[in-house]
Amino acid sequence: MEFFVSPYIKFALKHASLPERVYVFDTTLRDGEQMPGVALTFEEKKMVAEQLAKLGVDVIEAGMPVVSEGENKAIKEIAGMRLGPEICALARTTREDIDAALDCDVDRVHVFIATSELHMKYKLKMTADEVLRRAIEAVEYTKSHGVKVEFSAEDATRSDLGFLKKVYSSVVEAGADVINIPDTVGATTPSAYAHIVEEIKKAVKPGVTISVHTHNDFGLATANALAAVERGAQQVHVTVNGIGERAGNASLEEVVMSLFALYGVTTNIKTTYIYETAKLIERLTGVRLQPNKPIIGTNTFKHESGIHAHAVLENPHTYEPLTPELIGRKRTSIVEEAIVIGKHTGGHSLRAKLENMGISVTEDQLKEIMVRVKEIGDKGKTVTDADLMAIVEDIVGRVAEKERVLRLEELTVVTGKGITPTATVRIRVGDKEKIASAIGVGPVDAACNALQSAVKEFQEMSLEEYNLEAITGGTDALGFVTVKLRDKDGAVYMARATDGDIVMASVQAIINAANKALLVRGYKPMGQ
Ligand code: KIV
Ligand code: ZN
Repeated sequence: MEFFVSPYIKFALKHASLPERVYVFDTTLRDGEQMPGVALTFEEKKMVAEQLAKLGVDVIEAGMPVVSEGENKAIKEIAGMRLGPEICALARTTREDIDAALDCDVDRVHVFIATSELHMKYKLKMTADEVLRRAIEAVEYTKSHGVKVEFSAEDATRSDLGFLKKVYSSVVEAGADVINIPDTVGATTPSAYAHIVEEIKKAVKPGVTISVHTHNDFGLATANALAAVERGAQQVHVTVNGIGERAGNASLEEVVMSLFALYGVTTNIKTTYIYETAKLIERLTGVRLQPNKPIIGTNTFKHESGIHAHAVLENPHTYEPLTPELIGRKRTSIVEEAIVIGKHTGGHSLRAKLENMGISVTEDQLKEIMVRVKEIGDKGKTVTDADLMAIVEDIVGRVAEKERVLRLEELTVVTGKGITPTATVRIRVGDKEKIASAIGVGPVDAACNALQSAVKEFQEMSLEEYNLEAITGGTDALGFVTVKLRDKDGAVYMARATDGDIVMASVQAIINAANKALLVRGYKPMGQ
């Protein structure tokens, strides 16, 4: 099963006027590119257009030709590529804008003029009558050139509804094929938007396509677009990843997947290309996807909480409404790719993860590993596979208590600017204790020197090799230390230790190696 959603949606849709198919008008290259900080090169724009065609959008709004020479050239080039989707260019209601759009040889021209009091008074400085006349003239002029015309009343959701109906019915009479109702500043609610759509639909001649354009200022762009579709809107304006001005536009992946899985409404989108399209746009625009972004965020198919992970291992639909494959994400192993180890991890998923890494542990070892995982989690980190491996090596490979000859009782390290790093250790071998101090070039060196000096009391040994690795990046990474000690007869003892504190990891590794040497020399373990 590709998705598993609430069975009650059908009751809510009893009185809806859902269209059978919704047209996807992608404005990533126009409204999306208007996002501050985003500017695509000519080649990048072409790459995006090709990807959108592969994805199956119906219309590509390639840009606004009067914006710049480069923009103009890119729109012309994209229109000439004959990619499949209709290519559209945006124009204000001026002759200059419309001619520039027509000159790009596009299939559709999208003309717009604002209709709210606020915009007419402060931005356009026009009366409502002037706006109405300009809208009609622009549509007539564009249509007379034999292209499809889409008309938008900018800031529609804050416009007088009576005036809006007049504008839309007039532009339809003038030849508009599509009328788009923009929620320009994302300042409406789903039910209010649905009401506007219904009223406009009643006011215009049948046969015209009703389109919606929503912004995400209140996080409602997708909900508003879907509410409009419930009331019969047949086209949605979207951008990939929801990029766009301010909080962005309705995102293609959210709207399309909702239409598909929640509403059972068809689009032309090949959903299996959604993920690669999202990643391409992320790469080209530099706008990083937030991990919890619906549908395409990295967390969409990942689980840390023990309860969730356990259930997902049994059946992924318990906590995933969609399969990753549906949007083109590949998951060969749920354990490997979906289970995240961190402070919320439960024993079931930890064991599954370890087994997947080819590691089998005892119940006691599992408990110990879990304690270490939670310690790291409490520091605000997730545990990577490499971290987990190091913890396991540390615990599984550690000297068992019954083989413990040498124990570290105390360690003090003093360091700082202008202070020579100094360490003091107190160790115990059987019933004997030894305290030693040493200095070093740094705290790790001082601690290792002090320890070697203390161990010398029982066995002469030199540090043959010391290796420190940070398992993952960051200042709080786990330190993984490997040491080799050589005794006076030339025998070499290797041991490892892992700790978030590299001084502790270093000291523990030397203790572990020295312990092996003392055991070989016949020292009795403390437990015996
Ligand atoms: O948000 C808006 O109103 C627009 C129009 C140009 C459709 O982007
Ligand atoms: Zn917009």
